[in-house]
Amino acid sequence: MYENELKAIHKSNRYRAREVFDEDLIDLASNDYLGFSEDKVLLEKAYQRVLNHRSHAPKASQLVNGYHPIHKTFETYLCEINGFCDGIIVGSGFLANLSLIEALVRKNDLLVLDELYHASGILASKLVDSKVVYFRHNDAKHLEEILDTHQFHRAQVCVEGIYSMDGDILNRDIFDVCERDNVLLIVDEAHSSGVLGENLLGVFDYFNITPKSNHIKMGTLGKAYGSYGAFILADGEIIDYLQNRAKAIIYATAPSVFDTALAYESVLKTQNNNLEIKAKIESLKGLIDEVFDIKMDGMILKLEVKSSQNALDLKAFAKKEGFLIGAIRPPTVKKAIVRLIPRICTDIDILKKFLWELKDEIYRS
Ligand SMILES: Cc1ncc(COP(=O)(O)O)c(C=O)c1O
Repeated sequence: MYENELKAIHKSNRYRAREVFDEDLIDLASNDYLGFSEDKVLLEKAYQRVLNHRSHAPKASQLVNGYHPIHKTFETYLCEINGFCDGIIVGSGFLANLSLIEALVRKNDLLVLDELYHASGILASKLVDSKVVYFRHNDAKHLEEILDTHQFHRAQVCVEGIYSMDGDILNRDIFDVCERDNVLLIVDEAHSSGVLGENLLGVFDYFNITPKSNHIKMGTLGKAYGSYGAFILADGEIIDYLQNRAKAIIYATAPSVFDTALAYESVLKTQNNNLEIKAKIESLKGLIDEVFDIKMDGMILKLEVKSSQNALDLKAFAKKEGFLIGAIRPPTVKKAIVRLIPRICTDIDILKKFLWELKDEIYRS
C-alpha cells in the first residue's frame, strides 16, 4: 500500500530504520548528556523510592486517581529549584508540546514559533484555530516585527533553550521582546535542562531570569535526566488551565511512577554534584574547541557534511572505530549533519583520539 512512498524515501537517502546497537559501542549519539542512563545507583534509589508506596503504577489519568505522591513531590521540588509557582509532570516532551499548544492557543490568538522549533510543536500547531507564524531562527528583531504587525488577543511564542539539532542557545533578547508585549513565552528546555546554567537548570538559570507569569518552562526527563517523561512549569493559572483543557494530559494515563522517581533522583544528583558535573562539561567543551575550533553552547556538536550519504558513511566509519554518532538528514534538518554528544561519562583520552580521526575522515570524504 505504501510501496511508492517507501521507494521515494529510499531514493532520497532518507530511509530510517531502528537498530539495536552493540552495547559496547561508545555512545556519542544519544541525549544522555550526563551518562545517567547507566547509573545503577540512581536506578536503585528510584526503585527504593517507589517500593515505599502501595502502588507503583499510575493506573489512570492524573485527573482521576493517577496522580501519585511521587509526581507531586517531584513537581514541588522542580518548582522550588526553578523558582516557578506551579508545575505538572507530563508523559513525554512530545506530549508536553502537544498539550501546551493545543490547549493554550485559542481562536484570535497568534502562535509564533522559531523556525527550528521541535517537530512536536510544529505538529501541534496544525491543530490550532489561530494564525500560526514562524520567525527566523533566533532572530528577536523578526519576532518583534511579527508581533508589531499582527493583531491578536493573546500571543504564544515557542522557543528552545538549546536547539536540538543546531546546538545553539536561545537568544536572550527574545525574553525582552515577550516581556515588552506581555506575550506568553514557551521555552522548551529539552536540551538545556541538566547541562546549562549556574545550577544546571537550563536557560532561565544561565541568563539569571526570574520566572514571571508570562513564562512557561518545559523540560524533558528522557535526556540529561536519563529517564522518560517531561514537566511543565508555569504560573498557577496556566497549570490550572492545562489540567482542565489539555487533552493529552486529561485523557492519558498519568506519567510512569517509576520514571518520575528516577528523574527525581537524577535532578537531585545534578543539584548535589553541581560543581563536579559542570567541571566535566567544561573540559569536554574545551576538547571540542581544541579539535574542531567550535565553541559549544550546550552539549550538542553539529558538524555539517556534504550530503546525506556522507553523513551515513561517517556514521559507518565511527561504528567501525567503536563509536556511535548521529547521522541527521533532511527533513529533520535542512542540510545533512553529523551530531555528536560528548557525554560526560566518556573517557576523555579515548574521545580525543576518536575526534581527531573523525575530523581527518571528514576532510578526506
Ligand atoms: C527540543 C525537543 N522538544 C521535545 C522533544 C520531545 O521530547 P520527548 O522525547 O520526551 O517526547 C524533543 C525530543 O526529541 C526535543 O528534542
